[in-house]
Amino acid sequence: MKILVIGSGGREHAIVWKLSQDDRVEKIYAAPGNGGTACENKCENVNIKINDFNALIKFVKENHIDLTVVGPEDPLSNGIVDAFEKDGLLIFGPNKAAAQMEASKAFAKDVMKNAGIATADYKEFTNYDEAAAYVNKKGAPIVVKADGLAAGKGVTVAATIEEALNALKEIFVDKIFGAENNVVVIEDYMDGEEATYLAFTDGKNIIPLSVSQDHKRVYDDDKGPNTGGMGAYTPAPICDNKKMEHVTNKIAYPMIKELERRGIIYKGVIYAGLMINGDSIKVVEFNCRFGDPECQVVLSRIESGFVDALTASAKGSLDGVKVINKDMTAACVILISGGYPKDYKSGYEISGIADADKIENIKVFHAGTKADNDRILTSGGRVLCVTAISKDLKSTIDKAYEGVAKISFKDMAFRKDIGKKGLNK
Ligand code: GLY
Repeated sequence: MKILVIGSGGREHAIVWKLSQDDRVEKIYAAPGNGGTACENKCENVNIKINDFNALIKFVKENHIDLTVVGPEDPLSNGIVDAFEKDGLLIFGPNKAAAQMEASKAFAKDVMKNAGIATADYKEFTNYDEAAAYVNKKGAPIVVKADGLAAGKGVTVAATIEEALNALKEIFVDKIFGAENNVVVIEDYMDGEEATYLAFTDGKNIIPLSVSQDHKRVYDDDKGPNTGGMGAYTPAPICDNKKMEHVTNKIAYPMIKELERRGIIYKGVIYAGLMINGDSIKVVEFNCRFGDPECQVVLSRIESGFVDALTASAKGSLDGVKVINKDMTAACVILISGGYPKDYKSGYEISGIADADKIENIKVFHAGTKADNDRILTSGGRVLCVTAISKDLKSTIDKAYEGVAKISFKDMAFRKDIGKKGLNK
């Protein structure tokens, strides 16, 4: 079997790595991939951009690729699945209509409302004055969400009215997310702990994967600005099996059924961002792809069934497919270029990756790296993802940090408290 993976982050490196473990997979291509995918057994990087659908389709046809797996949300919301399926090609991920669950906050809230899915109360606005009047009436804390994709920067959890008004000004007046991004969802603030539920679906069946917890803030103790994710661990004790079943039955199934009622078949990964507060479980957001870095830990636990689930979901029937997890915990620590998520410098040589990879049950996934002859250099904000698995969470975390200690580059920074929340449960 030949598989193309689209994307270039740690998530896509983890997908390539997991695919390469299946004997039925003879060749993997990553477009464009990264320094890590290039070194992975069976994998070759191809220099095609993630939104160049014509070039990707041509490559898939010429190389007789059996399945394409899409990592990031951008090509999904631009309709890559529709384009591939129109040409009769097998591709894993939701089509453009289904990807609106991530690409439009207003669409997702409307689906949740109609499906009876627990989420924060909200109102939708298309101009500054009405939105500002609503914020002044409701008070803070309050959440302001730009409707469209905004590279993870579209959500402001405003602690004060001033912060909320500033977020509205940026969207409506300064148009920082573009002139066409002119719908805003204003939501009630939700208290609790966040967790990520991931599941495979074919539009009718759901196969839940492990629930994980991401660490979004840049500094320890959840301080500082939001990032794409500084580390994750799974399973998350805050969402035990009973709660997970509740999420499957009261959130994931109602979501795909409501979409089906609207004539939309959702295939691919369901990402439900949850807010858990005691027995209350509400949805913060839906995404239409694996989370990054949640993917790195969730895939590390999968024992078997990954390739079958991807293929069956793409074909539209998960009937009979089983995904089995190892009875292990997984944790990952993201190594960043100091300064990220704001300004940072790159181009620094990284040492110690091979030493960390040599430790049993450690895998280093690449994100912002690039090869320069024999050297690996930093080339982005989130550089590496040191991932460990072990029997219990404490030893998993210790192992991940043992791997981190082997690696160094100029300005390297990371959180020291990944997984700590899970230990206290
Ligand atoms: N780690 C958060 C996300 O992938 O959206």
